[in-house]
Amino acid sequence: MKIAVLPGDGIGPEIVAQAVKVLKALDLDISMTEAPIGGAGYEAAGDPLPEATLKLAKEADAVLLGAVGDWKYDKLERHLRPERGLLRIRKELNLFANLRPALLYPELASASTLKPEVVSGLDIMIVRELTGDIYFGQPRGISKLENGEREGINTMRYNESEIRRIGRVAFDIAMKRNKKVCSVDKANVLEATELWRQVMIELSAEYPEVELSHMYVDNAAMQLIRAPKQFDVMVTGNIFGDILSDEASMLTGSIGMLPSASLDENNKGMYEPSHGSAPDIAGKDIANPLATILSVAMMLRYTFNDEANAQRVENAVKKALAQGYRTADIWTEGSNKVGCNAMGDAVVAAL
Ligand code: IPM
Ligand code: MG
Repeated sequence: MKIAVLPGDGIGPEIVAQAVKVLKALDLDISMTEAPIGGAGYEAAGDPLPEATLKLAKEADAVLLGAVGDWKYDKLERHLRPERGLLRIRKELNLFANLRPALLYPELASASTLKPEVVSGLDIMIVRELTGDIYFGQPRGISKLENGEREGINTMRYNESEIRRIGRVAFDIAMKRNKKVCSVDKANVLEATELWRQVMIELSAEYPEVELSHMYVDNAAMQLIRAPKQFDVMVTGNIFGDILSDEASMLTGSIGMLPSASLDENNKGMYEPSHGSAPDIAGKDIANPLATILSVAMMLRYTFNDEANAQRVENAVKKALAQGYRTADIWTEGSNKVGCNAMGDAVVAAL
């Protein structure tokens, strides 16, 4: 198994180091090669996705990514900014299916800002389309109108086949879970998502056992806070999924807990925490590495088909939490506050 390791920026290197530690402790036959992406790619090669990094990622079986972005790059031209490196690698590897499980570990029920009874037992899988929508639609840009005023344009667009293939991923996952799919759109206003809804309804004919429901995105944002346990699988487009998955992460106590898998048609995948690079806390050894470590579990499950080791990693995380270890973001009175590195050690010890 070949893994391309792309730590990226901000807290990326610290959290990825913990995930690598866990991978090594599993003692599997894997090779890992590191390469820069994001701001680190720009520093190393003048490109947020250096050619050598893309080549390495294409040749690997899976990619482990930290996070990209730092305010110090915000003034660069858009194509040189860290985020563009991330969007390009997703597109280049055709990673259209982004799975973001929001799972509440019982030990963290009191770390959530919501009441424990609202979130306890929470287990939602958000399936976000990742290579289309307003993130990639043309035309885009900022231009000058005839009257001299500037105008910014982005285009929300989806074609049928893009909707169908992400829909299939969601229905297939639902078949292995509680057989409920909630498709999130804004069909009352946006035609692109009216088509989304139509295609989801057509597709549902192939999955008679799965109960399909639809929700407008504004209502979905509200329902996630009001009664999140009504959801099993949520499927939605790129931008709505970006927003709703951040929201869902807070139900689990902290965005530092939410892993993700981004898969192509053959389950080749890139695995990264759902959170960002948090430059404000970078290098301080206080970041939560658990989302990245849990992303490794997803890698074992989805790309390497190794359910046993996936569960070993997840159980080790549970054990470390049960033993009281907490990084600052999930710390509550009475638990044992540890840094990023010590949390990684705790998980390895629990393994
Ligand atoms: C995410 C992030 C990215 C996104 C950014 C960093 C480009 O927010 O993975 O959710 O918007 O997809
Ligand atoms: Mg996001």
